[in-house]
Amino acid sequence: MVAENRQVLLQRRPIGAPSPDDFTIIDGPIPQPAAGEVLLRGIYLSLDPYMRGRLSAARSYAKPVEIGAVIEGRAVGEVVRSEHPDFRPGEFAYGGYGWQAYSAVAGAQLVKLDPAVAPISTALGVLGMPGLTAYVGMSDIGRPKAGDTVVVSAASGAVGAVAGQLARAAGARVVGVAGGPEKCRYVESDLGFDACLDHRLPGLGKALDKACPNGIDVYWENVGGAVQQAVFPRLNDFARMVLCGMVAEYNDVQPQPGPNLMAAVRKRLRIQGFIVSDEWQRFAEYRAMAAPLLRAGRLKYREDIVDGLDNAAAAFIGLLQGRNFGKLLVRLGPDPTRGG
Ligand SMILES: NC(=O)c1ccc[n+]([C@@H]2O[C@H](COP(=O)([O-])OP(=O)(O)OC[C@H]3O[C@@H](n4cnc5c(N)ncnc54)[C@H](OP(=O)(O)O)[C@@H]3O)[C@@H](O)[C@H]2O)c1
Repeated sequence: MVAENRQVLLQRRPIGAPSPDDFTIIDGPIPQPAAGEVLLRGIYLSLDPYMRGRLSAARSYAKPVEIGAVIEGRAVGEVVRSEHPDFRPGEFAYGGYGWQAYSAVAGAQLVKLDPAVAPISTALGVLGMPGLTAYVGMSDIGRPKAGDTVVVSAASGAVGAVAGQLARAAGARVVGVAGGPEKCRYVESDLGFDACLDHRLPGLGKALDKACPNGIDVYWENVGGAVQQAVFPRLNDFARMVLCGMVAEYNDVQPQPGPNLMAAVRKRLRIQGFIVSDEWQRFAEYRAMAAPLLRAGRLKYREDIVDGLDNAAAAFIGLLQGRNFGKLLVRLGPDPTRGG
């Protein structure tokens, strides 16, 4: 075991797009687990768009990270020492952790992982919070049915990939929107969407008209901005707009003007936001549904793994610009389940 615990702290609150100077790296002592705690060695750290909100002081559904504190984040790790009866050294677990090499975490807040069920990294993506997000939003708000046309933005990403596959399994025609030809090819050929449109090309509106000749019944909103502006006028009567996130707007200093909502009255739209943490109790239900699909190759996913905590800030900055391709993870240390 190395003697030090590397950590990434919030140096100052970003204004607009975060920059490397907003983060600072320090080496401190490895924490000792107190009674009821488990010392985890981090293997994979999850980087998620919601963390941009935590770096701001603005009021939100969760408390901001304090200046000088470790940036928060979920991780999968290996138990090194345990002061909790349910965990033993060598076992794997995930939970709230922080941008650091080691963390002492309350055992009650950790979920034990069995590498025989699925690769341990998937607990942060397709079988984790992003997957549950897609499941909750699609089942409760999107409710796609056979014959519907569903549009999913950030379609190659952690949430979008699952949202689109669930809609397709429900019999809908699914059109993804993604940044660049490589992501679009992946969404069509690997994820099996009916089409995928590149929002970086001019003329997204016309491309939507062509790909969705019967209009749009469900829009899964991951990005906001120009993609939302192109989709909104093409929603059908009684369409559902699932407001999952608007990552293209997270760095904005001034909020973007929204669409004119008179159309929502005229078309009887259902526009609903949601936060997955209100639905944690459905985690077991989601994993029980999704893990067998994953093993059977009927639920596809892609991970974008960046090596080393020192590269976490740059990877996070890139996530907010679409530089990731799949669920973004930082490898904090060796993964014994993948041969180190
Ligand atoms: N409501 C909830 O409880 C909940 C839970 C989890 C996640 N979310 C939200 O779900 C969305 C997707 O999250 P994720 O974890 O799955 O991330 P992700 O899709 O794996 O990665 C983010 C993607 O967003 C797109 N993007 C980033 N900046 C953009 C920009 N400026 N303009 C247009 N597109 C941009 C990029 O895809 P392209 O290059 O393809 O555009 C990028 O790859 C986010 O809005 C997130 O906040 C919400």
